[in-house]
Amino acid sequence: MSHCWRLDDGRQTLVLAAKGDRLPEIVYWGGPLPTADSSVILAKAHGQDFTGGMLDGNPDLSLCPEASQTFPGQPGLRCRDASGAVLNPRFRFVLVEKDADTLVLTYGDAALGLTYQAHFALTPQTGLITTWACVTSTNPVHLQWLAAPVFPAPQYSDEMLSVSGRWIGEFQIKAVPWSAGIHLRESRTSRSGHEHFPGLIIPERGTSNTAGQAYGFHYGWSGGHKMIAEELPDGRRQVQFGNATDAELAAGLRFETAKLYTVFSDQGLNGCAVAFQRHLRDRIVTFPTAALPRPVHYNCWEAIYFKHDIPVLQQIATKAKALGAERFVLDDGWFGQRDDDTTSLGDWQIDRRKYPDGLGPIVDHVIALGMQFGLWFEPEMVNPDSALYRAHPDWALGPADQLLGRQQMVLNMALPVVGQYLFDCIAALLSDYDIRYIKWDHNRILPIVDTTQTRGSYALLARLQAAFPHVEIETCASGGGRIDFGILQHTQRVWLSDSNDALERSRIQHGAALFLPSVVTGSHVGPRVCHTSGRVFDIQYRAWVAAQRHMGFEMDPRELSELEVLTLSEITQWYKDNRKWMVKGDILRLDSADPSVLAEMQLAQDGSRFVVFSNQLDTSAQINPRPLRLTQLDPDATYGVHLRNRDKVHPLSRGNPLLKSQDLQISGAWLMAQGLNLPYAVPSSIWVVEGQKL
Ligand code: GLA
Repeated sequence: MSHCWRLDDGRQTLVLAAKGDRLPEIVYWGGPLPTADSSVILAKAHGQDFTGGMLDGNPDLSLCPEASQTFPGQPGLRCRDASGAVLNPRFRFVLVEKDADTLVLTYGDAALGLTYQAHFALTPQTGLITTWACVTSTNPVHLQWLAAPVFPAPQYSDEMLSVSGRWIGEFQIKAVPWSAGIHLRESRTSRSGHEHFPGLIIPERGTSNTAGQAYGFHYGWSGGHKMIAEELPDGRRQVQFGNATDAELAAGLRFETAKLYTVFSDQGLNGCAVAFQRHLRDRIVTFPTAALPRPVHYNCWEAIYFKHDIPVLQQIATKAKALGAERFVLDDGWFGQRDDDTTSLGDWQIDRRKYPDGLGPIVDHVIALGMQFGLWFEPEMVNPDSALYRAHPDWALGPADQLLGRQQMVLNMALPVVGQYLFDCIAALLSDYDIRYIKWDHNRILPIVDTTQTRGSYALLARLQAAFPHVEIETCASGGGRIDFGILQHTQRVWLSDSNDALERSRIQHGAALFLPSVVTGSHVGPRVCHTSGRVFDIQYRAWVAAQRHMGFEMDPRELSELEVLTLSEITQWYKDNRKWMVKGDILRLDSADPSVLAEMQLAQDGSRFVVFSNQLDTSAQINPRPLRLTQLDPDATYGVHLRNRDKVHPLSRGNPLLKSQDLQISGAWLMAQGLNLPYAVPSSIWVVEGQKL
């Protein structure tokens, strides 16, 4: 007997097949296969040879590879019984539940009292396959490791794209060559983390941003995860994602992985990026209103830090509004006695020294200007120097003598009393004032890795969402330390990075576009002299970088010259004029022929228009700009192409490439095969090219 199942959506086929009643393997995942290829034959055709120095067969690279089968790599499940004895299950078929787009497979080991379940859900609209695993036990077990259903990785691939990063340097995409053994990434900080964004893309040989085959994975969990990309001794490859090892501190009867989002692309890395972007936007994030256009932000952090002064804030708000802001966010420093970052986290009561009449004077001023008001919180945290900690030292997580992070500790979010306290504090403010937005920060890593912590945070977020459905929440953790599809089930925006350095920011947002749509990706125009790098960029460059995502400002608007105000207002107006379609469009990373040029295109959902941002990061090796090829256009259609900022041509451009002086009408085929000839560009400048299908 053999069990075979397949999921198809016209763009891809996934085939699972099992030998007898053993756990199935993914025997095929890629472009669509004809239905004539029966799964049973595919299962047999998939079988490989073996030779000397090997077992007398190949242990299954199943959805949960089993040590009991002498699997020569990392098993999908590690657990122990209450006495500490290692359990090595031999799962056997129990049940299948299948409809067109979903598959649930249940397997059991009766002797050990363990049940394993694998879930698959294909979303044809976005092309994503969402999968997760669950283990139940009749007796309490200690779980060390449970992988979401395990995928084989392609053989025709030389390297994988692994995502690393750091504070003010998130989303660094690193090519890691395949070789014998494991590429392991584990976030043991109880955050998805700057360092180990839970994503992996495996391109096949020769794949670029715009062409070729690639496989994408993202694990939607904020509490620390592990990823294993392993080449087995026999040459097969596997990808495992799950919660960090030993993150379940208590023995239990049921354990579930978070969701693993997977995508196959035959349109280069962009195929993965677009599927993740659309799925996140359309299926995961819930916005309070269906009208997506994102309000232009103003965030006061880099303008005032902890120095809150009502008349100054009112003046800043007025100026921000004049620039085009539609939402004003009051950042850290409004509560307790917080004049710096050493104190008061946990004391979520308004600082009456700074706000003698409460937040009313600033909230009312902002609302009278026609802007929404937003407020900063860091709910999970507590400073030892706080009334909360003095009253409840036992609410803090970990030992009292632990190394602090930014002078703070973490609250034990698994304690119901902590959740209730935080809910009451936040709810009181949301009820007292017309607050439409929370910036939810999380500035330190946890002293231990513990899933109950993450579940506690998710529960608090869900409770607040239910009670205040009109309030949007931004996930921030010293910038991009907690970005994943798990937290984005409860939030609507990510503070991608604390770096407002436009050059760095454009690199970070370009990397993040492999997973995140523009609608959730915050990007702010920072101060003239960047606070995290000391670099100076002109207002155009800063503004065009921010206008590529959910735009905002974070400088003190009082520092802007008249000319800067004019330029920023114009570009903000451009953002407002275009956000309606951009917010639902796809971000496509272009294959720039020049490594000094970082280029992206945003394409409207219906393909009717696009905008290209060609960012000259540095001086180029060659003297003239290389043509820039576009992608995903209709080859037979004619496009009207306009260089939006042609008035900003540098005097060093002495020739006359067509776009410098006039618009171009030309086929999609030409734009994709030959590419745009743009005028000479100096470093830290961006060409903005608008296109319209005629
Ligand atoms: C973190 C955030 C910043 C700001 C500060 C406030 O560093 O990333 O944007 O909110 O906290 O303390």
